[in-house]
Amino acid sequence: MKTLSKLCGFSAVAMLTALSGNAYSQSVIEIDQNSTIGVIEPEVYGQFVEHLGGGIYDGLWVGADSDIPNTDGIRDDVFAALDKLSVPVMRWPGGCFADYYRWRDGVGDRADRPVRINVNWGGAREPNQFGTHEFFNLAERLGSKTYLNINLGTGTVGEAKDWLEYITSDADAALANERRENGRSEPWVVDYLSVGNETWGCGGNLRPGAYADLYAQYMTFAKTANAQPVRIISGSHDGNIDYSDAILDHPAMGSLAEGISVHFYTLPTSDWSDKGPATGFAEDQWASTIERSLRINDIVKSQIDMIDANEVGEDFKLYVDEWGMWTNQEDGAADGSLYQQNTIRDAVVAAIHLNVFHAYADRVPMTNIAQMVNVLQAMILTDGPDMLLTPTYHVYEMYIPFQGATSIPISVESPAYKFEDISVDALSVSAAKNAEGSIILSLVNTDPNHSHPVVLPDMSGTITSARVLSGDAMDAHNTFEHKARVTPQTLAVTMNGDGLNTDLPPHSVAVIIVE
Ligand code: AHR
Repeated sequence: MKTLSKLCGFSAVAMLTALSGNAYSQSVIEIDQNSTIGVIEPEVYGQFVEHLGGGIYDGLWVGADSDIPNTDGIRDDVFAALDKLSVPVMRWPGGCFADYYRWRDGVGDRADRPVRINVNWGGAREPNQFGTHEFFNLAERLGSKTYLNINLGTGTVGEAKDWLEYITSDADAALANERRENGRSEPWVVDYLSVGNETWGCGGNLRPGAYADLYAQYMTFAKTANAQPVRIISGSHDGNIDYSDAILDHPAMGSLAEGISVHFYTLPTSDWSDKGPATGFAEDQWASTIERSLRINDIVKSQIDMIDANEVGEDFKLYVDEWGMWTNQEDGAADGSLYQQNTIRDAVVAAIHLNVFHAYADRVPMTNIAQMVNVLQAMILTDGPDMLLTPTYHVYEMYIPFQGATSIPISVESPAYKFEDISVDALSVSAAKNAEGSIILSLVNTDPNHSHPVVLPDMSGTITSARVLSGDAMDAHNTFEHKARVTPQTLAVTMNGDGLNTDLPPHSVAVIIVE
């Protein structure tokens, strides 16, 4: 089956995918080095941080008095791991939580901050120790941009206006002076701004026209005092086009927004009442997971087509500001904590998504995987003072060279991975060129049973890095006892007159750099 990321009018390739015994013949991958799709904005590698489960408390924030080593309350081990990922942007404070968030609860002396109930997420205790200053200070330390999601559900336009003034004003006036009294003299910058979240569901069950009116009202009055943020409409989910389409009917959307979002989660079973386990699954759920995650290509394409049909302007973009694996939470985890293990299956799913985002680099400038620590498809899991890096973390680390590189059209005639009535492409591929002219390749094998040999006949040069993430089982994962079961290894690659040759192990993600 011919796959491609996005076919940019360049014709494909012929490939051999005949099966002989257990060995597949080489799949030929072609890169069109004379064409470009667009710059892969670093923000494509953005993350989502919500007040939920152990995502913030215990995961990021332990407080300055904790025995766990920390700097101003942020745990040092987690910070150091995140720092290595070059986190380009963080979305905060939700999610569904955003529509309950009262910003005033999270500023001022921490000892005086009220405890609230996290109504949406298991009725957990929300101590408000991590608030505006803690978020912006963390972003500053990480060198990360900021994406704020304003409370539409239970907040007011006035509160939103005040919050933005508090954060961004340099005036000698009440709100900026309050921020100074709370320890921050310089204003911060809000790089991305949205109003409401999943307004078709947890964000109010609003009809699209009603949300569009509220969005316009908020964006009219809630303004930053310094740089203009990128303003993002909270849009629909999965294959639903109609909701976002109807929002864009509002005549002011073209002038009050730079883009619209979509959410898409990969559930192994596609059943919200029983999503399937994160580990210990059989091949049926490997196959259904890969099949579902590959839908991201059609979802992105159909959203972009919808945006174009609305003629909201050439620069109007799509923001995939929530995506990732969502399984049943681990036994024993607190209600609504969304704590799940993370396996080589998550790594393959992450890489499939990132490869698709690269293919739409000109239209998708930011995405936010859900979520950063201890929640859903996390980068990091913590257990008291202990911490482990998940396979998804390793994919993000391996893919760092793609941040800011220019996406290039690439084509492969992929062999199929088949299980019962499911048949999907075994290979997902992506390529980009960095500022120095090096080519960065990502090669993903979705087949859990067979390795797949590939050749890139037109490649030449020096291989400066070749790494692969795989595992000894479909659910291979890292535990607090065995933290390095799934870690990047060196991939055997040859470069000669025939181009670049390698063999992709079953269920693997490889990144190769050629200078
Ligand atoms: O990421 C968890 C939740 O998923 C978010 O709060 C919500 O926006 C989505 O339904």
